[in-house]
Amino acid sequence: MDLARPIIRPLGPEDAHAFRTVRLRALQMDPTAFLSSYEEEAHRSLGEFAERLRDDDPAVQVLGAFAGQDLVGTLGFYRLPLLKARHRASLWGMYVAPEQRRRGIGRTLVDEALRRLRAVGTIEQAELTVVSTADAARRLYLSAGFLVQGVVRNATKIGGQDFDEEIMVLRLQTVR
Ligand SMILES: CC(C)(COP(=O)(O)OP(=O)(O)OC[C@H]1O[C@@H](n2cnc3c(N)ncnc32)[C@H](O)[C@@H]1OP(=O)(O)O)[C@@H](O)C(=O)NCCC(=O)NCCS
Repeated sequence: MDLARPIIRPLGPEDAHAFRTVRLRALQMDPTAFLSSYEEEAHRSLGEFAERLRDDDPAVQVLGAFAGQDLVGTLGFYRLPLLKARHRASLWGMYVAPEQRRRGIGRTLVDEALRRLRAVGTIEQAELTVVSTADAARRLYLSAGFLVQGVVRNATKIGGQDFDEEIMVLRLQTVR
């Protein structure tokens, strides 16, 4: 198994079980990193997770990183659906299992998501929000070229503690 070169591919409904396991682990272990929470997703059925992966639109995907047979990382993206915002895509659910970190998997996921978004041809910018305390994620996004365009103070509240979120944007291309 070559850990430096994970297999990256879009997840489909057949990956729902693995996706659910990794997603719930992420929400449980890194609650500050995500807007969604373990309590909100733990009760969702396998069918609901499968539904999130059932999209043949290349602008709406969840990428999975596999080390051998194991799903060890995820990154989702979707094109904003409204007509006036269809040139924008949002990234979500970035996660690499703790035992697989610092091996380039996160960077590979971001690079692949951006490559796919550019390939759609009509998406001009990628956007995301990141909690200010997520140092690893912030550094990764900044090194990929994302720029901070704003800060939402007190964006999330976890156990009585408030966290700020940064809005980051990466310009991909201009489409006329
Ligand atoms: C953020 C995360 C996905 C990075 O995954 P990863 O596979 O470890 O990242 P990579 O090995 O590809 O590292 C890419 C870059 O990220 C930054 N980085 C990653 N981990 C870091 C750390 N612990 N400290 C500082 N910078 C770090 C570095 O810039 C690194 O580049 P370098 O190796 O050339 O220095 C992972 O730490 C994670 O899942 N964190 C918890 C969930 C989270 O914060 N998600 C983001 C939600 S917005």
